[in-house]
Amino acid sequence: MALLCIRGDWYLYFWLIYCKVYSAIIWFVGNHCRGSDKARSVISGSVGNQSPSGLPRVRTRRRKPQQHKVKHIVALVRRPSLRRIVMAPGAAAHAMMEDKAKTLNGALANVSMRTRRISQFAPLLIALVGLPARGKSQLAHRLSRHLNWNGESTKVFDCSEYRRKHMALYGTHDIFRADNQQGSAIRRQSAREAVQDAVLWLKDGNSVAIFDGTNITREQRRELNEYCLSDMGFRILFIECVCEDQELLERNIIEILHYSADYKAMSEEQAVDDLRKKLEHYMRQYEPIDGNLEGVSFVRVENMGETVTAHKVAGQKESGILGYLSGMRAFPQTIYFTRHGESEYNVLGRIGGDANLSPRGQRYAIALAEHINSKASCEPMAVWTSEMRRTKQTASDIMAPKRALRALNELDAGICEGLTYEEMQERFPQEFAWRDQDKLRYRYPWGESYIDIMTRLRPVLSALEDEHNVVVVGHQAVLRCMLGYFLDAKLDELPYMTVPLHTIVKLTSYGYKYKVEMVKLPVECVDTHRKQPKNCSITRTTADALVTVPSHYDTLPSNLWQSSEAQL
Ligand code: F6P
Repeated sequence: MALLCIRGDWYLYFWLIYCKVYSAIIWFVGNHCRGSDKARSVISGSVGNQSPSGLPRVRTRRRKPQQHKVKHIVALVRRPSLRRIVMAPGAAAHAMMEDKAKTLNGALANVSMRTRRISQFAPLLIALVGLPARGKSQLAHRLSRHLNWNGESTKVFDCSEYRRKHMALYGTHDIFRADNQQGSAIRRQSAREAVQDAVLWLKDGNSVAIFDGTNITREQRRELNEYCLSDMGFRILFIECVCEDQELLERNIIEILHYSADYKAMSEEQAVDDLRKKLEHYMRQYEPIDGNLEGVSFVRVENMGETVTAHKVAGQKESGILGYLSGMRAFPQTIYFTRHGESEYNVLGRIGGDANLSPRGQRYAIALAEHINSKASCEPMAVWTSEMRRTKQTASDIMAPKRALRALNELDAGICEGLTYEEMQERFPQEFAWRDQDKLRYRYPWGESYIDIMTRLRPVLSALEDEHNVVVVGHQAVLRCMLGYFLDAKLDELPYMTVPLHTIVKLTSYGYKYKVEMVKLPVECVDTHRKQPKNCSITRTTADALVTVPSHYDTLPSNLWQSSEAQL
């Protein structure tokens, strides 16, 4: 020790003292435990016939690391990711059972949650309620169009179409009598089939199904509500259509008489009489929705949107629908659509830009004004243009109030603005091919896609649905989207719809549909419609890429005033 101190290794000195003290403590603890283990060993010895000699010490020595291990395991077990690794098979099995029970409890909790409140993202069944001629079908189809446009895949399931499948020919109003058992059975079966198809549609991953039936009794609605919520786990919203406005009612009745398949084989007199009696049968059975008696979520629409009341309406989709119904009006409509007159860019085959009208385009503007002004002298008209020069110039001679809307501007072609299709192929062959592969969704770099136009057109379309005698002077892509909306075109077909220059497209509403008339004014122009080529691969040849490009001038010809001289 002295030697160590002299050497200056004083820390070794302290180390030795520490070891001595430590072994003294160990010795003391060992003896202490031995005493208590003795008592234990008596019990264990008597039970397990183990020799008491030497055992306590061995145990003491073993117990320490074991205790340490247990602590370690507990610590690790608290970390769920390590749980399976560190636990003994028995313990693991137990924990797994515990886990299962927890999962089961969680699932049960979800189920009970579900019975109380169905997820916002669950599919939605809309069931219409009301007497015939209250505008149910019109509402169903308009709502479906609106929802589809807003990305909710929606389909209408018309109960009367299912009924007609069961009856080769419509007989008389008799099948609607409450005491006609055969008639009631057919109607019940048709409703069941329509709902089944609606359910399949929703199970297929679509988001909204509209069941266009009468659903006039409380019992029918209770059954449907329960089936939807409890059996299917779908959301359900009832929309009741009420119509007290005599003028509107008459108009609806006239439309049914004209367009319903039931009355095709009847004289007008017969049809009027039959429809009147059918209405009487329904009126006898009708139980309007009563929020106090029925626990259903519903919207009541009076006179096609004049008054809208909601009861227990919750959820994202339902709120959007409520908003749409509140803004809905039901007036007969005529809307005129036209592209601007031929522009200088059209003549050159260039896209986008803000070019002036060509001389032929100016002639079209005059012809269009003559055409519209003759109508405007009888009825008030309004003109909506884009903010582009070519649409404003086209509308300039029309004698009606004008509005320039940015939302009506042509598709923004981004880096391709001002190019011809040939130049696009030359500079951006890949982009050109990608666009051909999926024209609806393709977005020009720094520009827009058709889907983008659809989005920005939403407010304009909602506004236009309630307008009459509006002339929309727009552009090729924008008008494709607008016409596609009113004509309920398939989305993938929109970018290829034909909307030629110098042509007025007149839409007239009838029921929930629109009649289309194309009025071509006699002023020559280029064709700007490029069909989808067969070969859309990025490795295609230039010839394959350009095969459908419409012909155009390379420079502006000087003789465009004389249409007959302008040969392409
Ligand atoms: O060519 C005229 C035009 O209005 C362009 O401005 C626009 O980019 C184009 O039509 C849209 O048509 P498409 O989508 O068929 O290229």
